[in-house]
This record gives sequence, structure tokens and C-alpha cells, in this order.
Amino acid sequence: MADIIDTRQEPESALARACAVLAEGLPVAIPTETVYGLAADATNPEAISRIYEIKGRPRFNPLICHVSDFEMADLHVEFDPLSRWLAEAFWPGPLTLILPLKSDSTVHALASAGLDTLGVRMPDGFSRGVIARFGKPLAAPSANTSGRISPTTAAHVAADLGDKLRLILDDGAAGIGLESTIIKVGGGEIHLLRPGGLDVAAIEDLTGKAVLRPEAAGAVIEAPGMLTSHYAPSAGVRLGATEVRPGEALIRFGGLPLPGEDKAAIVLDLSPTGNLREAAANLFAFMKQADATGAPSIAFGAIPMEGLGEAINDRIERAAAARD
Ligand code: TXA
Ligand code: MG
Repeated sequence: MADIIDTRQEPESALARACAVLAEGLPVAIPTETVYGLAADATNPEAISRIYEIKGRPRFNPLICHVSDFEMADLHVEFDPLSRWLAEAFWPGPLTLILPLKSDSTVHALASAGLDTLGVRMPDGFSRGVIARFGKPLAAPSANTSGRISPTTAAHVAADLGDKLRLILDDGAAGIGLESTIIKVGGGEIHLLRPGGLDVAAIEDLTGKAVLRPEAAGAVIEAPGMLTSHYAPSAGVRLGATEVRPGEALIRFGGLPLPGEDKAAIVLDLSPTGNLREAAANLFAFMKQADATGAPSIAFGAIPMEGLGEAINDRIERAAAARD
């Protein structure tokens, strides 16, 4: 079983142990503000291959590389002015930028899946300190078995991967609870590859430019690895439910009761007050909780499409599509 160190109680030993394990070429589960990540030295091919092994990923998808500062980012990727503007505005934070990889970058091709671009993010919180101390970018997908829901607590990670890991850092529940928003700038336009924890409206407000959704981009650019199965609970998922079937688990929003919910296996409200940030932070933990009841399906009440609702609905749709 992995050691779990509480970063709030023992920050110094958490940093030291994490860096020692990373230097051995082993992955460490680290808290970020979006979800918990399974982090490894992005320059070490053995360390990266262990991420795939532990997650049981069927194929090599490109991984997001996490940096502690701009100096580190500049060693590995080339920023166009628009991407730089976004990074300066939203880093550290839940924004991943897809940028051209520098030819002399030491990030291993196994992390970038051999692409000539790299997904880069400067995370907020304790993990940023780990990267700074380690001194090299950390490749990190979410710290869950491939095909399962992303972990937002150290306990989620321990339950899923505890017997395969040496070390898990516990920094409490992830504040955002959804993976980062992935953006790629091309031809002076901002393309959304994955809605996530940064509301695209914040990007549009800053730049005055429309963020192009995958449809608008003509599906030319896509994020490989955005498999529907990456968000699958064991239970079936029903979207936009207007009533609850007996024995179903219900996840609703905004304090709105649904007909039949008295016969539900469990009733969870993502945010009784209708706050989408709170809903995002609760989503994955509630999906796990609903799944754990053994209910045959999870009914989701409607969630508005505005703001973070776009990313929340995206994850629920993926969970539902994985059944079909
Ligand atoms: O919030 C997050 O982004 C979390 C935390 C741990 O930082 N990480 C995360 O990583 O969600 P992962 O591996 O589960 O998702 C990475 C996504 C994949 O869909 C992948 O295809 C896309 O990023 N991606 C990475 N590099 C890319 C590239 N060069 N071009 C296009 N898509 C890329
Ligand atoms: Mg994932």
C-alpha cells in the first residue's frame, strides 16, 4: 500500500519524499487544483511508461506536462503572443495550452506521444512546489485506472491505485474538481479542445475573441485521448432526467426535486444553491458515490449549459455515451 503524506501537516517531508520517489523514476500521486494527477519525470521514458502501466492505459496518449514557472515552460515550448497572453492571465490555473515543442526540449517523446506539440500547464497549489523543487516538468494524467472517473481526493486515489503506488500526497479535496480546459491557438484563432475547469467565457472576456468549439473548428484539431470511456462509472447514465426510476441513483442540481426521487437509491445535489463552481467540484465524487450504491443507473437532472456547465455537461455526456 502507498504511503500517504498530508501536505498540510508535513509539507517539508511531502516535498522531500515526492522528489526522492520521482528521482527514482517512479510516479507519485499529487494534488492539483483540478484533479489528482499521477505525476512522473517527463524526461524519463521509464518513469512515463510506468504511468501507462499503472493506469492500464491501452495506448500512448499525449500527456500534459506540468511546469512550475515560465522559465521552465520556455525551455520546452514556443509561445505565440496570444498563447502567452492566456498563460500570463490564467497560470497558475486550470488551463492547458497545446504549443509547438522545441527541438531541444528534454521532454521525452513518450510524454508527447511523438507529436511535435506539447500540452503544458502550470498548476496551482502544492503540486507547483513539487515541480519547482524537482526542477523538471512532470507529465501527469489524472490518477485513476484508465476508464474510471478522475479522482478529486487522495482517498479516491488510494482506493483505486494504492497498491500500485509508492506515494500519494494528500492536500484535501481538489478545489475545482474538473480537469483543465485545453486550448490550442492556430491561425490567430483560439480553439477549444476540451472544456474544463477554466470557464471559456473568461478567455473570451480577456481577449475579446470568440473561442471556437470543436464543431466550429471543422474537427481538424482534436485532443487525442478524449475517449468517452475515460469518464465511465459502472452504472448506466441517464442525461437530463425529468423523473427518477425506482432504485436509480439521482444526481440533481439547483435544489430542484424530481418526481420519484423518494424511491431513489440515493439523492445527491451538485449544488442546492445552483452554483456551477460548487457543482464542478462535487461532480466526480458524487458519480463515485452514486456508483457505489450499486444502482443500475444514475439519473442526472438538467444542468445549465452556461459557464462551467459546458464542462460539467461534457463529462456527463461522456459517461453516458460510454454505455451505448
Ligand atoms: O486538469 C488536468 O488537465 C489533469 C491534471 C492532472 O493536470 N490532467 C489531465 O490529463 O486531465 P489527461 O492525460 O487525463 O488528459 C490530457 C488530455 C488528453 O485528452 C490528451 O489527448 C490531450 O490532453 N493532449 C495532451 N497533449 C496534447 C497535444 N499535444 N495535442 C492535443 N491534445 C493533447
Ligand atoms: Mg483522465
